[in-house]
Amino acid sequence: MSPRSILTAVAWPYANGPRHIGHVSGFGVPSDVFSRYHRMAGNRVLMVSGTDEHGTPITVAADAEGVHPREIADRNNRIIVDDLVALGLSYDLFTRTSTVNHHEVSQEIFLGLLKNGYVFPKTTLGAISPSTGRTLPDRYIEGTCPICGYDSARGDQCDNCGNQLDPTDLINPRSKINGETPIFVESEHYFLDLPAFADALGDWLATRKSWRPNVLNFSRNLLHDLKPRGYTRDIDWGVRVPLDGWRDRDDKRIYVWFDAVVGYLSASIEWARRRGEPDAWREFWQGPDTDAYYFMGKDNIVFHAQIWPAQLLGYNGQGAKGGTPGSYGALNLPNEVVSSEFLTQEGKKFSSSRSVVIHVRDFLSRYDPDALRYFIAVAGPETQDTDFTWAEFRRRNNDELVAGWGNLVNRSISLTARNFGAIPAAGELTAADRGLLESTSGAFARIGDLLVRSRQKAAATESMRVVAEANKYLSDEAPWKLRETDRERMATVLHVALQAVDDCKALLTPFLPHSAQTVHELLGGRETWSAAPQIEEVKDLDDGSPYPIITGDYTKQLATWNSTPITPGTPLAAPTPVFKKLDDSIVDEELARLAADR
Ligand code: MF3
Ligand code: ZN
Repeated sequence: MSPRSILTAVAWPYANGPRHIGHVSGFGVPSDVFSRYHRMAGNRVLMVSGTDEHGTPITVAADAEGVHPREIADRNNRIIVDDLVALGLSYDLFTRTSTVNHHEVSQEIFLGLLKNGYVFPKTTLGAISPSTGRTLPDRYIEGTCPICGYDSARGDQCDNCGNQLDPTDLINPRSKINGETPIFVESEHYFLDLPAFADALGDWLATRKSWRPNVLNFSRNLLHDLKPRGYTRDIDWGVRVPLDGWRDRDDKRIYVWFDAVVGYLSASIEWARRRGEPDAWREFWQGPDTDAYYFMGKDNIVFHAQIWPAQLLGYNGQGAKGGTPGSYGALNLPNEVVSSEFLTQEGKKFSSSRSVVIHVRDFLSRYDPDALRYFIAVAGPETQDTDFTWAEFRRRNNDELVAGWGNLVNRSISLTARNFGAIPAAGELTAADRGLLESTSGAFARIGDLLVRSRQKAAATESMRVVAEANKYLSDEAPWKLRETDRERMATVLHVALQAVDDCKALLTPFLPHSAQTVHELLGGRETWSAAPQIEEVKDLDDGSPYPIITGDYTKQLATWNSTPITPGTPLAAPTPVFKKLDDSIVDEELARLAADR
């Protein structure tokens, strides 16, 4: 098969605070497993994201601290960048929505939609404070959610059910500043004409076959209730509305969700500009042979399966009103929206209105990134809400990573190092030898197929089943018993076991890139097997402000998605353990920490 071009579009974390392990179980680890697999399979991958820095989440955090939103965004952008790199997420570009490039690309999409008639102005009711007569920004309005009844929903979104709202939707709206009931007066806004995309969205969804069924059903159901959605908001922080009479207004901005989803495109363009090949992004957005996969948690589905596709269709001139593509030319819609459900954290122990969260930063200060990646891959919320517990984390780490995979690596390499000092050549193979090798090399096609379809849990489980098979082979053949009696057979068994270790290393690389590199080195490899992302301090391409990006050169890594014959004669040294066994006591320690945090 000739190489494909794949856009991995990863949901943009809000920069209103540090991210917790639930967040990275939704957008983070799954998108990285997917990208790493495709790179190993020889495909060209562009993986982009950044921090989502506009909208009420940031302004509310800024108000709480009495600082400018920019300060909140800068601080959390850096924390999030550090955390995602520590987790080994292999972005080609992780940037931010506060770049000049992002603002300009967002404005171009808005103007393209406006030109084709899919964005229209409308006078609506905006809130003002009766005592001061001034506009009340959306974030200062609270009320009861008309959908779920939650009594502290915000004017833009209900944090309980995740639905987007307009301030006028709220039941019993009140000002967060002084509790008074706002009055609603006429205010001009722009709207995205979603009903004009009903047919086009329906046709597109009808052709989507491989999505996780829950995501596809949810997305199809959204089509029953298409209303125009506000494209602009009464807020003073975000992308300016690129129109005369609006551009300079301090109280109007593009709605945060409508600029955030454009981030996938703006980040691809920034990536291309930074490479000095300003058109390189087109391969991932306009090629007939390119696929785009979007990764997120379920509260983001509506924006990726409806709003962003509608923006793209309108920009392309493909809604009910027709039109022509904007200046970038027609852009591809998502091929697949890959959404996870929620990861609760010690939900049973701490069931209460205020849920507990475990921040990525804290987690990685005490445990290895691959231990967390493994838990998410094998036990994460792929198709249903799932609870993270420290007891289960410890059990999976000890019984599966340490006693399964780590043990296979350790005993095959240490036996070989002690008895041969190098990878031995194999003699004649028995049926058992051939059986194991066929199983490990045959696993690439099977597991690859699962990964292509984003069945990552099944893929991780199947990889560990292959590891168990290799462990059983080693126990059955008991090469340590052959030391005195049949050194030649011992060499063959160890050769076969080491080939199996090498195959399992490759199979597990998308999930466990750090330990795969370690195993690669234990097997005598010296170069980069699985590349790690890097932080680079850069300047905004247009206004020179400094910020950190995540990027990496993943083309030079050796990792490939197939069985590579090991080289007899390669010197091997006694291994140090690849994974750390976790003591029983960590469970109570961590629970005590969580209790103290509440
Ligand atoms: N910031 C949103 C969240 O954390 C996700 C935005 S995804 C994007 O839920 F596509 F809009 F960027
Ligand atoms: Zn609600």
